Amino acid sequence: MASAGKPSLSGTSAKSRARARSLLSISDLSRRDLGALLERMKSMKPAIKRGETLSDLHGLAVGLFFEKPSTRTRTSFEVATIRLDGHPIYLAADDLQTSRGEPIKDTARILGSYFDIIVGRVYSHDTLRALAQFSGVPVLNGLSDLEHPTQVISDLFTISESKGKLQGLTLAFIGDGDNVCNSLLLGASLIGMNVVTACPSGYGPNPEILRKAHENAKRSGSTVRVVDDPKEAAVDSDVLYTDVWVSMGEEKEMKRRLRAFRGFQINSEILKLASKDAIVMHCLPAHRGMEITDDVIEGKQSVVWRQAENKLYGAAVSLDYVKA
Ligand code: CP
Ligand code: NVA
Repeated sequence: MASAGKPSLSGTSAKSRARARSLLSISDLSRRDLGALLERMKSMKPAIKRGETLSDLHGLAVGLFFEKPSTRTRTSFEVATIRLDGHPIYLAADDLQTSRGEPIKDTARILGSYFDIIVGRVYSHDTLRALAQFSGVPVLNGLSDLEHPTQVISDLFTISESKGKLQGLTLAFIGDGDNVCNSLLLGASLIGMNVVTACPSGYGPNPEILRKAHENAKRSGSTVRVVDDPKEAAVDSDVLYTDVWVSMGEEKEMKRRLRAFRGFQINSEILKLASKDAIVMHCLPAHRGMEITDDVIEGKQSVVWRQAENKLYGAAVSLDYVKA
C-alpha cells in the first residue's frame, strides 16, 4: 500500500467521491468534460510513462467485470489502476455465478458493496445500465454492443497528439457501424471534428446515436455525413479509421458479413485519396487482409501502436473522472 502524500494530479482525496458518476456513453460527457479529460491525459501521460505512482485511486478497489475477451482494455485498466495506487481485480463473468443464472442486479448489488469502481465489458448495453443502477458505484463502459467510449477518449487524444488539434479535422470511418463507430460519431462531433462514415447497407451506425451526433455537430460547428462509398468518405480526410467486420458476439454472422463488407477496406488506394499527411487508426485487434491491409497498418501513416499505448492513459483519466 502506498503512503499518503504521494503526488496526485487531481489534487483531491481518492476517498472524496461526492460526485461519483458513471461513464457508459460518450453522451454522459459534456464538451467541456471531454476537453478536460483530454487535457488531463496530457499531464498524466508523462508522469505514468516516467513510472510514477500517482495517488488518485489510493486505497480504492476496481472490479473488472468482463463477459468478453480483451487484451488492451483489460490490461490498460488494470495497470492504470495500479499506477494510480488502487487495486484491480479481474472478474471473468464465466467464473461468476452470473454464468449459472444469478441475475445481474443481484451481482451488481454485491459487487457494489465490495468495489469502489466497476469497469464492465458486456454483450448488452443494458447489462451496464443494470450494473450502474444496482451497484451504487461508478461504472465505466469498457465496451458494450452499443459503445466503446473509453476507446474513443484515448483515440481523440491520439489524434490531437498527432495533429496538434481536433477542431476542423475530418475523420472518415470505413467499415462496420459498430460500437467503436458509434462512440467516434458522438466524440468527434462533440469536440468539433467532422465525421463521415461509409458502411455497407444495413450495417450503418445506430440511428439514435447518429441523431445525437448531428445535434452535437450543430452545436460544435462541425459536420456529420453518412455515405455509401468508402472512396467518397476517404477523400481529403485527416484520419482514416476502421474496426473489425465481425465484432465479438457476431461470430454466427461471419459468412454474411464477410460478403457484405468486401470493398470496405482501408488499403493503399483508399489512403491515396486522404490528405497527404492523414493518419490511419484501428482500435485493434486487426484482421489484416479484411478491414485493413498489412502494408497500411505497418505503414508510416499508421498510428495504431501509439493509439493502443494511449489506452493506458485514457483508462487512467477515465477512472479518475468517475471517482472524482
Ligand atoms: N481496442 C480494444 O478494446 O482492444 P481489446 O479488445 O483488446 O480490449
Ligand atoms: N467492434 C469490436 C471492437 C473490439 C475492440 C468488437 O466489439 O468486437
